[in-house]
Amino acid sequence: MSVVCLAGKNNIAVDCLAYLISLKRPDLELCFLSCKEDDGVDTWQRSFRKFSLERKVPQVSIEEIRKIGDLKLFSLQYSEIFDPESFSSRELFNIHFSALPKYRGVYTSTWPILNGDTTSGVTLHRIDRGIDSGPIIDQLLFEIDSNDTARDLYDRYLINGYAIFKKNVNRILDKNYSVAPQEKGIYRYNSIKSIDFSRNNIDTSNPASVVRNMVRAFAFRGYQMPKFGGWSIYKADILAVQSDRLPGTIIHEDKFCFIVSTEDKNVRLFKDYYEEFWLNCHSGNLTRLVEIVSLLPDINLRNSSGSNGIMLASQAGRLECVDFLYSLGARLG
Ligand code: TYD
Repeated sequence: MSVVCLAGKNNIAVDCLAYLISLKRPDLELCFLSCKEDDGVDTWQRSFRKFSLERKVPQVSIEEIRKIGDLKLFSLQYSEIFDPESFSSRELFNIHFSALPKYRGVYTSTWPILNGDTTSGVTLHRIDRGIDSGPIIDQLLFEIDSNDTARDLYDRYLINGYAIFKKNVNRILDKNYSVAPQEKGIYRYNSIKSIDFSRNNIDTSNPASVVRNMVRAFAFRGYQMPKFGGWSIYKADILAVQSDRLPGTIIHEDKFCFIVSTEDKNVRLFKDYYEEFWLNCHSGNLTRLVEIVSLLPDINLRNSSGSNGIMLASQAGRLECVDFLYSLGARLG
């Protein structure tokens, strides 16, 4: 009997465990290791700890699994580093959210967008003594759309991370896979110090393309949104007009947006009304809802706890607001 341990967090870990359970392989004993920060509550991501416990999968400690000789371990967004030297088994794998060897380390949803990359990917590799440096088993590449935010990229990592797991897991469990060393070169490793997300004010003293990428890279609902003029900003468009004022000068402001000068072209920064929208759904302020719904790109967008406007209104018993949102195409599911 082989022991298979999934160590991780978020939808990817939940989906992969659900898949392993669905395989109903009698030769496998499943167990899980969850991250310290997983408090067992579903938010914009499902809680891996909650799901695993509901499915009666045994929870283990690192100390316990280190001793198991016939162990296969999959790290799926687990927040700590495994030292393979301290394990009896060598069958330790990681699904990293980037097209390795690019973007080892953290913030792999942010860095490719800051750098204006047009592709990224997910990589399944064996864990070696370095960080995200082990030999590669498989990689799936995909395009980054020029409008994608870091959150969009993260969502795509989750989907592709699950896909690469499904594609390879049986081969790995049956020891029927091969590995290729990572290409050598000057590839940067990004530590948690590489970005300070509390510095989320948009720096307009840059070319417009840099400003736009900064907005896309910091737009990650659940963590933070970029800020300008006291507002959260969800999108930046580059205008054809060359800036003839000092960078950061507000040329125009209305309820939708700011038009601001940068080092070269002017940019339009779109004001974000979601926090106010969700608050008003909950408090039942129909008059204000009527005013702001036209300022929202997607009425069904969910907040960091995973609820959309109509769900919040319904949970709070605001039936007038529920009716109004329903008439605009809002969905409860
Ligand atoms: P996380 O789950 O910490 O994983 P990783 O840094 O390894 O990718 O974060 C997921 C993404 O969330 C990360 O790629 C960038 C983004 N993020 C923010 O936008 N702000 C933050 O404060 C943090 C911690 C992450």
